[in-house]
Amino acid sequence: MTVAISATGLWTPSDSISNAELVASFNKYVERYNAEHAADIEAGVLPALLPSSVEFIEKASGIKHRYVIDKKGALDIDRMVPDIPERPNEQISLMAEVAVKAAKQALERAGRDPGDIDAVICSCSSLQRPYPALAIEVQNALGAGGFGYDMNVACSSATFAIQNAADIVRAGHARSALVVNPELCTGHLNYRDRETHFIFGDAAVAVLVERADIAPKGAWAILGTKLLTRFSNNIRNNFGFLNRCDPQWRDMPDKLITQQGRKVFREVVPLVSDMILQHMAELDLRPADMRRLWLHQANSNMNRLIAERVLGHEATQDEAPTVLDVYGNTAGAGSIIAFHLHSDDLKTGDKGLICSFGAGYSAGSIFVQKAA
Ligand code: COA
Repeated sequence: MTVAISATGLWTPSDSISNAELVASFNKYVERYNAEHAADIEAGVLPALLPSSVEFIEKASGIKHRYVIDKKGALDIDRMVPDIPERPNEQISLMAEVAVKAAKQALERAGRDPGDIDAVICSCSSLQRPYPALAIEVQNALGAGGFGYDMNVACSSATFAIQNAADIVRAGHARSALVVNPELCTGHLNYRDRETHFIFGDAAVAVLVERADIAPKGAWAILGTKLLTRFSNNIRNNFGFLNRCDPQWRDMPDKLITQQGRKVFREVVPLVSDMILQHMAELDLRPADMRRLWLHQANSNMNRLIAERVLGHEATQDEAPTVLDVYGNTAGAGSIIAFHLHSDDLKTGDKGLICSFGAGYSAGSIFVQKAA
């Protein structure tokens, strides 16, 4: 049975932060910190903090701007975390709310009612709570049937969930499976850390996976999916429920995202490009068959290298579109945002690749072909 991506949806926060605004806030924090600790810095007890720069961020990452759930809290140097008030149990949780917004757009674009959905998978890099599952909350808010569950595969959350959804549909457990990927990444971002403060933004995406024979016109047939994981400590977030056993946990930077960016760059580029080339060979696809690559959006230089290794030449923006410059890294949502915003212009028969990579390490490739 052929399975298809019937439609996608995207929710974008209304707040946004430019690099200039982010760097101004960070540098104000650095100035105040260094002034407050001047004696210790002078005595060599503490190292002085170094300022950040717009030029570095743009050159090293390609990020110019990001959408965020709360700009004020993130830029306020007395907080430097988004201000997200807790909600009562009677109110929908924030992550479910934004997932529902993306889901409704996907359903509308596919011409589906929530009652058509038999399965909901919520997959993201950080889940708001252990239980009840966000997917079940989304299922309830939409009025969908069947079952729902949560999963987490860091930046590969969406592609792993799409393979799960495709397997569920192919096995006959559902006709229409909805994947939601709410990524409120600024909640795990350390705005006081020069190495990482610029990386992440927030967004939510939804992907409707269905039997191809019921999918709407212009759906994307899934030609093949492949997942890969290889353990690495180079991107970590040690936040978890056992942290509460340590009273000091709130002050520990490793309870937010930390990474060895250079090592990630060096190790992930060959891992992902080899995986894509092997998957292409298995599906009897050639580089010339690829009309477009919708790559994970973490670093523009990484994407340039991966696309070049896959296509055999430097990719144009048309061949491998970037959304990183405007959205920043939105973890699992990145490649789906690229697909959502840059796929309507393709023609029947065109083939492309949705590809994710990130912490774990984890990587996923999904080859698709536009149906009539
Ligand atoms: N402003 C100005 N300078 C900065 C800076 C900032 N915000 N952050 C670091 N620097 C400096 C460093 O101090 C270093 O200076 P030095 O050469 O004098 O020691 C220099 O810039 C290079 O730092 P480095 O961390 O090696 O930068 P990089 O070129 O590797 O770029 C990343 C950093 C994070 C953008 C890049 O490594 C990356 O994107 N890697 C992949 C990460 C990734 O995909 N992760 C997946 C997440 S899901």
